Amino acid sequence: MKQPTLNYNVILDDLSGEKAFQYISRARELASKGFNVISFGVGQPDIPTPQFLVDEGKKALDERFTGYTETEGIKELRDAVAEYLNTRYGSDVRSDEVVITAGTKGAAYLAMAAYLKPSDEIIVTDPTYPVYSELSKFLGARPVYAPLKWLGEESGFSLDIDAIHELITNKTKGIAIVNPHNPTGAVFSSREVEKLMDLARDYNLLIIADEIYDNFLYEGADFKSFISFPDWRDHVLYCNGFSKTFSMTGWRLGYLVARREVTKALTKLAVNTWSCPPSIAQKVGIKALRSDWSFVREMVSLFDKRRITLCRELKRIKGFEVWCGKGAFYLFPRISKILEAAGLGVETFVTNLMEEKHVVVLPGTAFPKEFGKDFIRFSYAISEEKIVEGVKRIREFVEEITSK
Ligand SMILES: Cc1ncc(COP(=O)(O)O)c(C=O)c1O
Repeated sequence: MKQPTLNYNVILDDLSGEKAFQYISRARELASKGFNVISFGVGQPDIPTPQFLVDEGKKALDERFTGYTETEGIKELRDAVAEYLNTRYGSDVRSDEVVITAGTKGAAYLAMAAYLKPSDEIIVTDPTYPVYSELSKFLGARPVYAPLKWLGEESGFSLDIDAIHELITNKTKGIAIVNPHNPTGAVFSSREVEKLMDLARDYNLLIIADEIYDNFLYEGADFKSFISFPDWRDHVLYCNGFSKTFSMTGWRLGYLVARREVTKALTKLAVNTWSCPPSIAQKVGIKALRSDWSFVREMVSLFDKRRITLCRELKRIKGFEVWCGKGAFYLFPRISKILEAAGLGVETFVTNLMEEKHVVVLPGTAFPKEFGKDFIRFSYAISEEKIVEGVKRIREFVEEITSK
């Protein structure tokens, strides 16, 4: 008989962890052995949290702002979030419609846990940031994958609204959508966003909108936030956070915006799960939102330069089909021709590249489900120098495996 401690919920074995973390830990291992590892794997800015925010954190510590706070987050931060969203998106969010969470993942968890029950279905894109498929599985619901359209090097990726429409059944609870999109770097256009919202209205669905990359937009990307719809309260659960915009991944600070009835109910789940979001990070969050945002502007313009460099360099590799992306800090080139010529699956390609050339990229399959098998994900949150050197090694690797 199994010991009771081994008798954990079988659903856990069915979840795919965030594979990014597995590859990144292998990269760390290689680096600790002295190899010069270049990692395009990381999903966080390489620029550290700016000094003025670190100082604010120190001040909060010195003032011993180290106890529990309100479960929904301190009022001043909720005010600042509402103010920010309303200024930026012309919305009408009130402070009591904001719940501060431990990271955007905390917001995603609350949103999904509030609604999903066993046998419900939720439509997610394929590829998707894994949290949305995996958390729905954990809650007993079924993720239904809607493959994106690959439009080629000129136009990149788009939603397939007709396919999404066809996937709607009487079990569909909602649609989870990340925009700007991880892993493709796509920004789904305002037209696509409006069409999704129309589907939500027509079929009485939720939209779980993760807009954590909404400050990373390039080439005048046509971005529309779900929080900007006048009827957002009827459909939208809005998830965002500080990790990427202010380079605060380890501070664990995010927020969920939902209508008042929901935030009130969710506070009961939050208090029983984590009591409150990190106290010190909340003080830092206020400072960040009320800053002049020059840090963010400078970081995004630096990332834009890197995006162009990475795209240009990758296009020089025979067999790479590369679209330069419009948002976030990822490129998702298609490499099916190379995989075919080398007789490799994408995960073996990535593993061999890491072991032989010490370059880390993520296999598209880390973002379930089928779609990613022809793609690899690059993060360009690394220096231009490393981008150029990393792509040079990839080119060598590709030449070696395709000439065998
Ligand atoms: C789409 C998306 N949502 C959420 C997160 C997690 O954010 P946080 O650190 O705020 O939990 C990430 C991190 O990579 C992400 O890409």
